[in-house]
Amino acid sequence: MAENMVIPFVDLARQFHSMESQLTQAFLAVGRSGGYIMGERLESFERKVAEFLDVRYVLGVADGSDALFLVLKALEVGPGDEVITATNSFIASAWVIAAAGATPVLVDVCEDFNIDPAKVEAAITPRTKGIIPVHLTGRPAAMDEINAIAVRHSLFVLEDAAQAIGARYRGKRVGGLGTAAGFSLHPLKNLGVYGDGGFITTNDGALDAKLRKLRNHGLRNRDECEMWGFNSRLDTMQAAFAEIKLERLDGWNARCREIAKAYAKGLSAYVQVPVDQAWEECVYHNFVIRTDRRDALVAHLKERGVDTRVHYPIPIHLQESAKSLRYKPGEFLNAERYAKTMISLPIYPELTPAEVGYVVRTVISFF
Ligand SMILES: Cc1ncc(COP(=O)(O)O)c(C=O)c1O
Repeated sequence: MAENMVIPFVDLARQFHSMESQLTQAFLAVGRSGGYIMGERLESFERKVAEFLDVRYVLGVADGSDALFLVLKALEVGPGDEVITATNSFIASAWVIAAAGATPVLVDVCEDFNIDPAKVEAAITPRTKGIIPVHLTGRPAAMDEINAIAVRHSLFVLEDAAQAIGARYRGKRVGGLGTAAGFSLHPLKNLGVYGDGGFITTNDGALDAKLRKLRNHGLRNRDECEMWGFNSRLDTMQAAFAEIKLERLDGWNARCREIAKAYAKGLSAYVQVPVDQAWEECVYHNFVIRTDRRDALVAHLKERGVDTRVHYPIPIHLQESAKSLRYKPGEFLNAERYAKTMISLPIYPELTPAEVGYVVRTVISFF
């Protein structure tokens, strides 16, 4: 192959350039308004997201981790409680449980990298308070099965939708499928801002009312504090940027799905590729392939200019931070096998068809 391209794993500046003037206008509007915390711009973003996701309540918070953490606090999760989540996820899915004072209970994942409902049910004890299914890579977890388990055992379901904004499960957007959901607006996410950001969604009015106080110092109004709270609000400036970007999100997600289709078609004869099920619409925050020759393929791609990542090379149960939970290697075989065989290929809406073709050819040239 004589050709050579350089394809970074992410290139956020490409997207910024494409919207520079709109973003600059928003910066000026918020700057000139003099209001930088809460206010109309944040409320406007929250309303638009509620409409987009078809949920009743949306609250902007400081980041996706806080979104999950604040819901756990609002649901009064604390010492003595257990909350179940997937061992193959970003660490925040688990540390928020520990930060709330409860015990993270980790379980293995299925072929689609999402939590295995059968393993969830087996992990339930009298201390279990809830489940945090993660919609990893932008693919919805098995929500019908998880919700049925939750109903049987009177548990809450907190969707970790950090990677999955816009994804659909049986026709409905994720974020309205459980008790509440946490989303991240981290720059790398499908809807990203220019720093940290996140939001919570719920259809429960009482939960929303409590969360509104919790994110704002526990204040009922300017002077009266109803409960011990936190300072975790989505900056007004970031909300203004996010509102503009939200208009383009469906288009970006559609482009990621198109790229995923091209990768899957080109590569399925050589590596394990993700498979879309009839009932779901994955938004491909990551496109993860699997091969037993992972490290050699990563090196081959790197030499030829294709940058990749592994999401995630160390399952949560094997992290040093999880030592006190006493999990052992070999405990969650799928997650451990995937950790050694996964590669995330570059996937973002700005990738050109020529670049996508180059990635496919470069993977194939290895085999
Ligand atoms: C699955 C998952 N959960 C939670 C988070 C936390 O989001 P944030 O980085 O905005 O705190 C992230 C992203 O970083 C994530 O990928």
